[in-house]
Amino acid sequence: MPRIAYVNGRYVPHREAAVHIEDRGYQFADGVYEVCEVARGFIIDMTRHLDRLDRSLGELSISWPVARRALTFIIREVIRRNRVADGLVYLQVTRGVASRDFAFPTNAAPSLVVIAKKVAPDFQAKRAEAGIKVITVPENRWDRVDIKSTGLLPNVLAKQKAKEAGAQEAWFIDEEGNVKEGGSSNAWIVTRDGVLVTRPANHGILRGITRTSLFDVAEKLGFTVEERKFSVAEAKAAREVFISSATTIAMPVVEIDGAAIANGHPGSVTLSLRQAFFDVAEKIPA
Ligand code: PDD
Repeated sequence: MPRIAYVNGRYVPHREAAVHIEDRGYQFADGVYEVCEVARGFIIDMTRHLDRLDRSLGELSISWPVARRALTFIIREVIRRNRVADGLVYLQVTRGVASRDFAFPTNAAPSLVVIAKKVAPDFQAKRAEAGIKVITVPENRWDRVDIKSTGLLPNVLAKQKAKEAGAQEAWFIDEEGNVKEGGSSNAWIVTRDGVLVTRPANHGILRGITRTSLFDVAEKLGFTVEERKFSVAEAKAAREVFISSATTIAMPVVEIDGAAIANGHPGSVTLSLRQAFFDVAEKIPA
């Protein structure tokens, strides 16, 4: 069965799907994106993802490429045409096609691309059984990382460095030695007292949708969440460490820069959050 992508009004075979060479996403990374998990035939937390898309578009003065209801339909249609029960859906909106000029074009229509991809349901579960390794890198991104922009070059370089070090994620560290977030995930610790700690999302990190939904999960399970900064040293001494994103959910971290966390195995709090996530999150049939 051929993979199908949606590109600017058409459903096309994935290998033929293309945008114009003067699309501003291609030339300037002048665009935004979202990734939603698809699990057991449901789209997870689509409402919150589309709310954040609305915010990202607004911050960059890019208009919606289609109405929100139409986008919801397209997302489901791409998932359906690719028969994705477990995996992800990726959507990207750019400012559109225009002759290269830095200032906004006056008459470009935004471009919309939607792709769905199957991921084996146990792929992340297997990683969670072992836990992942993280390295730290100095923060070198712009200060509007609250916008989910496709301008991800520092993230690409950081994650490549992680890969070369045998790790799966890189954490950006601020000038005070505090953890900001990962290249494609938010960062959390569980203190010795069992309190969940994650950096406030009002400035300097992306407000992860999984992060927000994990607040709901934590409440349901009776855990306290503190939004405050934490240092690399505090993370290394924590009871548990984990990351969160739409593709990983709560994923245990067992090593930071080569130093083992606790006994070097995934922690029980992280695994209980992971376990309860699907029940608590919003599930819209795909
Ligand atoms: N990344 N921080 C960054 C920099 C991210 O790129 C992401 C998501 C997150 C977590 O956000 P959410 O919980 O909404 O997925 C935090 C996606 C998965 C990606 O780029 O593939």
